[in-house]
Amino acid sequence: MIRAASTRDLNQVIKIEKMSFPNPWHKYIFYSMVQMPGFFVYELKEEVVGYIIFEKIEEYVHIINISVHPLHRNKGIGSSLLQFCINCSAKKSAISIFLEVREKEKDVQKLYKMHGFRISARIKDYYPNDHALLMERNV
Ligand SMILES: CC(C)(COP(=O)(O)OP(=O)(O)OC[C@H]1O[C@@H](n2cnc3c(N)ncnc32)[C@H](O)[C@@H]1OP(=O)(O)O)[C@@H](O)C(=O)NCCC(=O)NCCS
Repeated sequence: MIRAASTRDLNQVIKIEKMSFPNPWHKYIFYSMVQMPGFFVYELKEEVVGYIIFEKIEEYVHIINISVHPLHRNKGIGSSLLQFCINCSAKKSAISIFLEVREKEKDVQKLYKMHGFRISARIKDYYPNDHALLMERNV
């Protein structure tokens, strides 16, 4: 089940974030974003196992963060969260969705490509130890 995030979910979200990224966001970033309309969690048997955060900027939707608990990957949860974001973007009449992904993360790029995203730019030194690819898809 995908539902809006609340402060009660943040301990688990922060745990997943730390297991997922070499430079995880500080917990205060999540606390400051929890009221955002585009912060959703994926709940499985009453446990939060993934999350997505996106924001609409004029007619564009920016996916800021997406992550799934390592024990629950490769089961389609990341795809469900992406599809959910695509559906929300269509309902909000956005024209395009974009995100940044580490250049070294070829598997993650493959997942985005499967969902219709294409590489549109390279952002040098975007991450502390990697470049980013900007990926976009029309809604
Ligand atoms: C990227 C991420 C969110 C993907 O989440 P996920 O839940 O594993 O994604 P999915 O299961 O939908 O898709 C992953 C793979 O599983 C496959 N898959 C999808 N549904 C499946 C199912 N029901 N059963 C088995 N495999 C499935 C997909 O085809 C995909 O395969 P691929 O390796 O051939 O591309 C997750 O790997 C993650 O949290 N990574 C660390 C954080 C990160 O890098 N975030 C992205 C920042 S840009």
